Parts: sequence; C-alpha cells; structure tokens
Amino acid sequence: MKTTISTLRKMYENSEKFTVLTCYDALFARILENCGVDVLLVGDSLGNVIQGEKTTLSVTLDDMIYHTRCVARGAEKALIMADMPFGTSQLSPQHTFDNAGKLLAAGAQIVKIEGGRIMAETVAFLTQRGIPVCAHIGLTPQSVHQFGGYKLQGHSETSARQLIDDARILEESGAALLLMELVPAALAKQITEVLHIPTIGIGAGGACSAQVLVLHDMLGLYQEKKLKFIKNFMENACSIQEAIRNYVEAVKNNRFPDREHEY
Ligand code: KIV
Repeated sequence: MKTTISTLRKMYENSEKFTVLTCYDALFARILENCGVDVLLVGDSLGNVIQGEKTTLSVTLDDMIYHTRCVARGAEKALIMADMPFGTSQLSPQHTFDNAGKLLAAGAQIVKIEGGRIMAETVAFLTQRGIPVCAHIGLTPQSVHQFGGYKLQGHSETSARQLIDDARILEESGAALLLMELVPAALAKQITEVLHIPTIGIGAGGACSAQVLVLHDMLGLYQEKKLKFIKNFMENACSIQEAIRNYVEAVKNNRFPDREHEY
C-alpha cells in the first residue's frame, strides 16, 4: 500500500519513528523501499552528489522534475517528497504554487521548502490549495552564503528562540512536516515537543519523529563533507541493502542518531 501523509500522521500519533533517505533514481527507489524506507526525498543535494557541484544553488526545477519522475517510476510504496530548488519558492506564493504543481505532476506527494517564517504565506497558499508542504529550518543549504558556511544553527538563546517561533508559525500556516537540519539536539527535542506535526531531523538529535540522511553520505560514498552527524552504515554491512536495513532498524529503535552523531 502506498505511504501517504496520513500514514506518516498515524505513525506519529503512535510514536512510531519513520525513516527518510534521499533518492534520485528509479533503481534506488525500489531498493530503498524494499529495505523499509518510508519516505524518499528527491533532494536538491543531487547538485552535490550527482552533479558534482559545491552547493545546491545551481539545481534547476527541470533537474528536480527529471529526478522526481525517475524516483516515481521506481517507487510503489514509499512516499515521495521533492525539494523546491533555489529560486522556485522565493518570489511569490503564486510562482511557488506553479512550480510545486510541476513536481506533483512528476510524482511528488509533498514538496519541501527551505526557510522560516518568511515562507509562512507561501506555505499557507500551497496547503490551502492542496499541495502538502514540509518546511525546512535550521541550516538551509540554499542560504549557505548568508550563513557563511554549513554551520550549526540555533546555538545562541536568541537564534534558538527564533527557530522555535519559526517552527510554530510554519505549523500554524499548514506545514504537514517540519525538517530541522544542523541544530542542537536539545533544541530539536524542544521544538518536537511543542509542535503537533512530525519533525524530521538531520544533525538534530534523536528526539525528532523521523530521521533523514543523504543516501551517498550514509553509504560512505560522498566524502566531501565530514560532518559529525553522518554515519557510514556500510562500515558494518556486506551489501548496500544490509546498510539501508541497518539504518532503518537503528532509526526505528532509537539507536540512531546516538550521542556521537548529535550536537
Ligand atoms: O537536499 C537534501 O538532501 C536535503 C537534506 C539535506 C535534508 O534537503
């Protein structure tokens, strides 16, 4: 049976963790869902791991449509989430709706948009018109130049407060999911506890409702970024499938991320 937003909602209500991995093609879509991954994120990280770019900024809507179509052809069960790439969600709610609609037509069931409260109007516009949104806060890679690098966010009292407020505002605007990247585990836990929607963490500790990693990072294939939260699941596995199953099991049983992989 196809995983939907309602499936994730039920898992959240039953305090059951769900698993997310990035995915960019049909073959891996089949492999990942057969290994029990609940959500396939067609991430604009494809700019790094597929296209060889230093940032995600050059990824286009056409790139995202192409890879979403590939993933949709391979996935029968897993929910498909697609990233809105840089420049496709910042201009206006109407422009974003137009672009998000193309990702849905390519097979996405939900779109992910980077940004805090500034995106609230857009999130409301899309969700009121039938497009589910995952809001992405904390380290938002499309703003890497604004942040001056891939740095931990929310570590001062003021920035932590801002992130909590952003999370609340985005939930009120209708976001179905909230993804937090590179934030202290204690802050992500606090945000998870105040919200009534599932949270997905990457470098955000183990208290989130779900976890995501970039596939090529957790398979130990992409060595450019040496970030503390990345775990190479191939280290104790004999095959890609075993590594992915170990990730799924570790997330579901609260064994990943552990202290070693959080801030
Ligand atoms: O593009 C991506 O892979 C992402 C993850 C880092 C969450 O947005």
